[in-house]
Amino acid sequence: LRDPSFSAAVIAWQKKFGRHSLPWQQTRDAYRVWLSEIMLQQTQVTAVIPYYQRFLDRCPSVFDLAEASNEEVMALWSGLGYYTRARNLHRCAKQVVEQYRGTFPSDPKLLQELPGIGRSTAAAVAAFSYGTQAAILDGNVKRVFARVFGVEGYPGAKAVEDQLWLRAQALLPEQDIESYTQGLMDLGATLCTRSSPACQRCPLQTKCVAFRDHRTAELPYKKPK
Ligand code: ADE
Ligand code: SF4
Repeated sequence: LRDPSFSAAVIAWQKKFGRHSLPWQQTRDAYRVWLSEIMLQQTQVTAVIPYYQRFLDRCPSVFDLAEASNEEVMALWSGLGYYTRARNLHRCAKQVVEQYRGTFPSDPKLLQELPGIGRSTAAAVAAFSYGTQAAILDGNVKRVFARVFGVEGYPGAKAVEDQLWLRAQALLPEQDIESYTQGLMDLGATLCTRSSPACQRCPLQTKCVAFRDHRTAELPYKKPK
């Protein structure tokens, strides 16, 4: 499953063609990175940006967020949707203050124990804030992997997802985890889109099973009915 040329291709592409000016890319502050990743879990980049800025104006640190009232946090979140995220966000901030004196841990296993942080979000926060070697696997990345490796089966099924995590783990680069992680996100969001992937511009084209076999419309498999 290992293939260093995979991460090398993603990293080189990210440096040249990936996104570099998103507000949360201008910092390694784990609080800011975490806030952005929670907002981006179920909301598009363009919608997140103004909320992210406003949130940080009112709560520039995890201490400010921990001390804010529930009402204030819900008001700051209002309009972003999926309000469980806001409640978990507040609980998480309080826990980081109490348990870690305000410093988010760099170990994804510890991050994952906090409210609202799943395996992929934990890895993204650890990689972007601390350069920790950890694999992400969000919806976009599942789609890229399912296509490149011709993974049969619905990626939401446990057995298929387990396979994808093994791949994700095996493909991690030894260096430049930040560019690699951002590169996977950018590929999934801007090139390898669900309905019209731009294979002609893709750095993974020569490795891609879906491209070779003309199966980009079929992969990844849809949810079984
Ligand atoms: N989606 C999830 N995390 C992201 C990030 N760091 N940048 C852009 N889109 C994302
Ligand atoms: Fe996606 Fe096309 Fe690239 Fe394959 S070649 S990863 S289908 S954009």
